[in-house]
Amino acid sequence: MYKLNQKETPIFSVLKDVYAAREVIPFHVPGHKQGAGVEKEFYDFMGPNPFKIDVTIFEMVDGLHNPKTHIKRALELAADAYGARESFFCINGTSGAIQAMIMSAVKAGDKILVPRNTHKSVNAGVILSGAQPVYMDPEIDHENGIAHGVAPETVERTLRENPDASAVLIINPTYYGVATDLKKIVEIVHEYDIPLLVDEAHGPHLRFSEELPLSAMEAGADACAQSTHKIIGAMTQGSILHVQGDRISYGKMRQVLSLLQTTSPSYILLASLDCARKQIALDGADLIKKSIERADILREEINKIDGFKCFGREVLDGMGKYSFDPTKIAISARDLGLTGYQLERIFVDKYNIQPELSDFYNVLLVTTFGDTLKSHESVIAAVKEISNETKHEGEIPTFKDIPNVPEMEQNPREAFFSEKTRTRLEEAVGAISGEFIMAYPPGIPILCPGERITEEIIDYVEDLKKAGLSVQGLEDVNLENINIIQEIDAVYLFVEKVQNFILGVPFNLGAAVTGTEFAIDYLFGEYPELKNVIELIEPVREDENLFDKRLKFVNSVISTSKVLAERTRELVTSGYRPIVVGGDHSISLGSISGLLAEKRDAGVIWIDAHADMNTADTSPSGNIHGMVLAALMGHGDAKLTRLNKGNFLDPKKVLLFGARDLDPGELNFIEKYGVNLITHDEVLEMGLVAALEKAKEMLQVEELHISFDLDSVDPNFAPGVSVPVNDGFEKEEILEIFSILFENYKITSVDIVELNPLTDKDGKSVDFVKELIDFLDGVGR
Ligand SMILES: Cc1ncc(COP(=O)(O)O)c(C=O)c1O
Repeated sequence: MYKLNQKETPIFSVLKDVYAAREVIPFHVPGHKQGAGVEKEFYDFMGPNPFKIDVTIFEMVDGLHNPKTHIKRALELAADAYGARESFFCINGTSGAIQAMIMSAVKAGDKILVPRNTHKSVNAGVILSGAQPVYMDPEIDHENGIAHGVAPETVERTLRENPDASAVLIINPTYYGVATDLKKIVEIVHEYDIPLLVDEAHGPHLRFSEELPLSAMEAGADACAQSTHKIIGAMTQGSILHVQGDRISYGKMRQVLSLLQTTSPSYILLASLDCARKQIALDGADLIKKSIERADILREEINKIDGFKCFGREVLDGMGKYSFDPTKIAISARDLGLTGYQLERIFVDKYNIQPELSDFYNVLLVTTFGDTLKSHESVIAAVKEISNETKHEGEIPTFKDIPNVPEMEQNPREAFFSEKTRTRLEEAVGAISGEFIMAYPPGIPILCPGERITEEIIDYVEDLKKAGLSVQGLEDVNLENINIIQEIDAVYLFVEKVQNFILGVPFNLGAAVTGTEFAIDYLFGEYPELKNVIELIEPVREDENLFDKRLKFVNSVISTSKVLAERTRELVTSGYRPIVVGGDHSISLGSISGLLAEKRDAGVIWIDAHADMNTADTSPSGNIHGMVLAALMGHGDAKLTRLNKGNFLDPKKVLLFGARDLDPGELNFIEKYGVNLITHDEVLEMGLVAALEKAKEMLQVEELHISFDLDSVDPNFAPGVSVPVNDGFEKEEILEIFSILFENYKITSVDIVELNPLTDKDGKSVDFVKELIDFLDGVGR
C-alpha cells in the first residue's frame, strides 16, 4: 500500500539516536541547554527527555524551512501515508496551515467561496490575503441546533453566481463529525479549474478507515489541513498540510509557510508529528476500528438514558450531511431542561470529565483510540446519575432561522484596517459592522466585519437576548453596543477606485442647431475650477457638401469622432473611466467606438428622450445626432458605420431607457433588431427601482457605458438642451438611476451630452451637469 517504509521516524530518530545519544555539547539555543537551565519544579515534573531533544535548526537535525535530510524524509513519508504529492508540517496548528492554504491559492481582491460557519483561521487567512469571501450557507440542523456541511448544490449555485471565483474552501468533516459529499464538490469545483481547499482539522484519521467519511486527498481535493494533534497522536499545535495536483503552486506554498511559521520550530512537535504519522500509517486501521466500536457503544448507551440524546448516522441526508464520523459524541440533555453549557459544568465540577466544548444544546466529547474503556464507563455512569438527579426545569428555547446574509461593503482585510466607533446597537442600522455577531445555536455568524447592519439583524439579536439564547462576538458583553466603521473611516485597499477622466467636446454639427458648441465654455464660465479638470477635444471642421440633407455635416462629425474615439480608447487602456461632456449626441459615435475598440463585450444604456436610431433613409431631419446608435450597431450609411471598425454593438447589449419620443423608423428598427427598450411611460408605470431591476435582467453585461442625454430630464429641471421634449425624469431620479447602474455594473465610461447654454434657464442645466460630474467623482468603486 505504501511506497516508503512507514516504520521510519527520521526526525525522532536523529534527535534521539544521534543528537541525544552523542551528548552533543550545546552552544546553541534554546538557552535551557538540554534542561540544565530549566526551573526545577517544571523539570522534575517533565522529566529529562523532552529537554534532551528540544533543539534548534542546524545541519545535524535539518531545518523546517528548507528541509534537505531528515525533515525532508519525514515529509515524504507523510505524503506517502496520506496519498499527497507533497506534505508540510505545521507547528502552528491547522490554523496556520489554513492561512497558508488560502494565501497560496488567492491574492488580494480574488474571490474565495467559504462556508459561513468557518473556523476563525479562515477569516484570518482571508484578512491576511485580502481575498473577497463569498459565503455559502451550511445545512442547518434545527433538531440538534448546529450547522453542518455545505451541500454540493450550494457550492454549484454559488459558483454559477460567481464564475470568477479563484478558490473554494470546505470543511470536512465538521467539529461534530458530519461530512458533506466531498467527492461531488471536487467535481463541481474542478469544472471551473480552480482549487478546492479543505479544512480537515477533524480528519487526520479519515484515510485509515472505510467506515469514516472520505478524506480530502482521496476525494481529489487540491489541499487539506489536518490537526494531527486533535484526533491522532501528535502533540498540541502539530498539524499537517497536504497538497496534490497542479492547481496550487508548491513553491508559493513553501514561501507562504516560511513567511508564517517561526524560524525556531519545536523539534519536539516535529518529532511527535513524525511518530504520529508512523502510528496511523501502520496501526491506524486497527486503532480506529476499535475506537469506532467503542464510540458506537457509548452513543448507544447514552441514548438509552432518560432525558439524554446523542445524534448519530440518522442525521445523514445524502447531501450536506453525507457521512459521519461516529467518534464525535454530541450529548444533549435538552429534554431534562439543561443547556449544553450547564451540562458541561456538571461534567467538570461533579464528575471530573472535561468535554471538548459545549454549545447551547450539546456537549461535545471527542473520543479517540487514546481513550480507555474506563473513561467511557465514567461518562455513562455520570450521565445515568445526572438523569436520575435532575428535575426537569423548564423548556430550553428553540431557535429561529437566522437572518439573510447582509451586503458586504468592505472585504475583511479592509474592515480589519478601518477605525472603529462604538455605537448603540439599535442606532447601528445602516452602518458597516466592525465586529462579528455569532448566534448560538446554530453557531454561525449573522454579521461579519465589513457587512452592512440591517434592521432584521438588530431585531434578531434582540429576540435572541429576550429568549436567553447565546449571542457572541461583540466586544460589549452586555450586547448593548457595537463597533461600527463610519464611512469616513472606511479603508478600501484592494478594490481600486477607477479614476474618472473628463473630456469636453464642444461640438454642435450633429444637431445642426447652434448652442452645444458653447457647452464647455458655459461650464467653465460657471465653474472655473473645471478648467483644471476637463481636457478639451477640439472639434474638427471639414469641408462639407451643404446640399446633403440626408447626412448633415458628416465629414466634421466623422473627423471629430475619430479624434474622440482614439482618446477614449487610450484612456480606457490606461485604466481610466472617460466622462465625455458634450456637445451634441453625435459625439457618442466617438466615445463608444473608442470604448468598444478596447472592451468588445461592453453594453450601452442610452438614457435619452429619443432613440437616435434613425438612418439616413429614415431620419426626418438628416441630423446625425439622431442616427448614432443605429450606426454603432452597424446600420446606416457606411461613412458612419465604418468608424468603429466592425466592433458593432450587439442590439441585445443595448438598452434604451426612458425614451418618450420615438420615430416610426426607430420603432421599426427596435423591433427588427431586438433592441431592449424601457420607455419613460413604462418607467412611470413600474416605478424606477422595478424598471432598473428589469433593465438588469435585460442587459446581461458586466461592463456598461452610460450615454446620458440631458433631454431625458424634464425641461422644467434642465431646459438647456437642443431638442426638448415635455415631461421626463426628475434630477433626483437621474442620480438614482446612475447610483443603481453603478451598483449593478462596472461602468466603463459615461457621456453627458446636449448641454445647450442658449436654451438654458437660470443655469439649471449647467448646474445639473456639474452635479453629475461631482456625483461621478464620488462613486466608482
Ligand atoms: C473546523 C476547524 N478548523 C480549524 C481549526 C484550527 O485548528 P488548530 O487548533 O489545529 O489550529 C479548528 C480548531 O478547533 C477547527 O475546529
